[in-house]
Amino acid sequence: MENKKNIITFFASALATIGIIALLINIFEKKQEAKNSFFKVVNVKATDEDPAIWGKNFPHQYEDYLKTVDQVRTRYGGSEAIPRTPTKADPRSVVSQSKLEEDERLKVMYAGYAFSKDFREERGHAFMLEDQRYTKRLKVGQPGTCLNCHASTVLPMLKLGRGDLMEGFHKLGTMPYHEASKLAKHPIACIDCHNPKTMDLRITRPAFTKSYQKYLGIKDYNPNKMASRQEMKTLVCAQCHVEYYFKGKDKELVYPWENGLKGDDILSYYEKAQFKDWVHADTKADMIKAQHPEFELWSQGIHAKSGVSCVDCHMPYKKVGAHKITDHHIKSPVLNIRRACQTCHNIDEDKLVERVETIQSRHLEIRDIAMDALVEFIDKLKKYPNKNDKAYKKALTFQRKAQFLLDFIESENSSGFHAPQEAARILALSLDLTRKGQVELGRKD
Ligand code: HEC
Ligand code: HEC
Ligand code: HEC
Ligand code: HEC
Ligand code: HEC
Repeated sequence: MENKKNIITFFASALATIGIIALLINIFEKKQEAKNSFFKVVNVKATDEDPAIWGKNFPHQYEDYLKTVDQVRTRYGGSEAIPRTPTKADPRSVVSQSKLEEDERLKVMYAGYAFSKDFREERGHAFMLEDQRYTKRLKVGQPGTCLNCHASTVLPMLKLGRGDLMEGFHKLGTMPYHEASKLAKHPIACIDCHNPKTMDLRITRPAFTKSYQKYLGIKDYNPNKMASRQEMKTLVCAQCHVEYYFKGKDKELVYPWENGLKGDDILSYYEKAQFKDWVHADTKADMIKAQHPEFELWSQGIHAKSGVSCVDCHMPYKKVGAHKITDHHIKSPVLNIRRACQTCHNIDEDKLVERVETIQSRHLEIRDIAMDALVEFIDKLKKYPNKNDKAYKKALTFQRKAQFLLDFIESENSSGFHAPQEAARILALSLDLTRKGQVELGRKD
């Protein structure tokens, strides 16, 4: 009896051991599989910019990458496909909706600037190069600097700089746009986000690295060596989805982060630099235009504080057979709640959409209060009789600041979602400045 028990125990433990070994082998194989989860068809060279070449090794990522031509509208975001008859001057057969036609107040705010002529809803990455080439905003004569965020620029920069990205960046920036644009063949491509040897994410835009070093206060900071994998899943996007300006005679692309990433930090930077983008046509105030500070606003929100990256929501994992891959169809997460949000939030899909839209509609209500006040203020300035008196000059400084802060939130593309409370704080500051400006004007009434 005792013997029989021993034999059973022996076999049971032997089986368990075999089981564990088999499991370990299986895990090891899975890990290897994950490492080499592709069949290398071609050897991608450091100078291969055509995404179709990379796509031979990674057909799933390539297929999804090509899908950014989609245009689907969400309640407050996404984009719409508006068909048009192509012309020689503008051969686009579809464009996205015009923000200026949807909201007349923007024309009042941007009077005298190229943005009052043409300003559209942003759309998928596939369109970035053509939308820039055919915007009426180019009519004022733009530098090659514009191209930095609208094309695959790694190869053109390497060629211009003879292998030196920084040198190439400066050369590209100082060319007229129409010449620089001839060097661009693709919208953002694999080569702009990935190291061709390891497929690791990499930063390829010198303007970002330089500005980020200033923000961190670390001179030699190299994100490609020092940032964690999770950080890189935000920093690759922060090369473009940021507030920027062209500095000095060379029109160098700079992100104004020295005082911090908040709207008021950035305003204080511009105040110190006495920078202006244009002079307002109706009031003659020195104005600053804000553009797409997604990274800056995100950085002030609960998701950033919890370590959630842009990629976690905009490029969530998806399953293809036994593999988990990153969804290269970058788009609004509202079109993809299941994979973008429900991996972390155990809440029904329609409830999550409702949460997003509640945040956004409250946000837009506050925005409207601040924007209506600003537009009313601009109208008062316009009608003010004595444009040389002290009160008027002082009031113009309020318009400049109030409008920049409002625009910082307005031109951010999440309608407040990335950091609702911070967006409300900035809008409150803007409203306060508008009202103070009106008081200034009223002193003589
Ligand atoms: C927690 C999830 C989450 C994170 C993290 C996040 N976003 Fe978003 N983002 C959203 C949501 C939700 C919207 C609103 C989309 C809509 O209204 O259709 C949005 C909107 C956008 C839009 C406008 C899209 C459109 O279709 O109108 C852009 C561009 C964007 N985000 C970029 C970024 C960048 C860049 C980062 C990182 C710095 C980031 N997002 C981080 C959830 C996220
Ligand atoms: C720092 C990166 C960056 C630079 C530099 C840049 N853009 Fe953009 N641009 C973006 C991003 C991000 C979007 C999408 C978000 C948005 O539209 O708010 C965009 C959107 C656009 C659009 C489509 C939507 C619209 O506004 O009508 C046009 C056109 C455009 N840019 C033109 C230009 C021109 C012209 C220049 C040079 C003066 C320029 N861009 C420089 C990042 C940049
Ligand atoms: C090289 C600059 C660049 C980089 C890097 C970049 N974007 Fe964009 N992104 C743009 C431009 C420009 C547009 C607008 C294109 C247009 O309107 O034609 C855009 C549009 C978008 C949109 C709007 C799509 C839609 O359907 O409305 C989202 C969302 C977005 N980007 C998210 C991201 C995320 C997330 C990352 C990082 C993984 C990222 N982008 C990296 C330049 C960039
Ligand atoms: C806007 C930047 C961007 C572009 C452009 C881009 N990728 Fe990616 N790619 C990413 C991000 C972000 C990840 C996720 C990285 C991580 O998880 O650390 C990724 C991951 C990958 C991976 C690793 C496996 C996976 O799916 O997670 C492969 C392979 C890949 N990309 C191939 C491509 C190919 C091929 C192209 C061009 C057709 C391309 N990528 C273009 C941002 C980009
Ligand atoms: C990688 C995980 C992750 C993803 C993906 C994610 N979230 Fe979150 N979310 C969090 C965490 C963590 C918090 C903070 C929870 C806390 O501290 O109580 C949070 C908070 C929130 C909040 C509360 C915000 C506040 O100000 O209190 C909302 C709403 C929300 N998420 C919506 C979304 C939506 C919508 C998506 C998809 C577009 C999404 N989340 C994607 C992790 C995530």
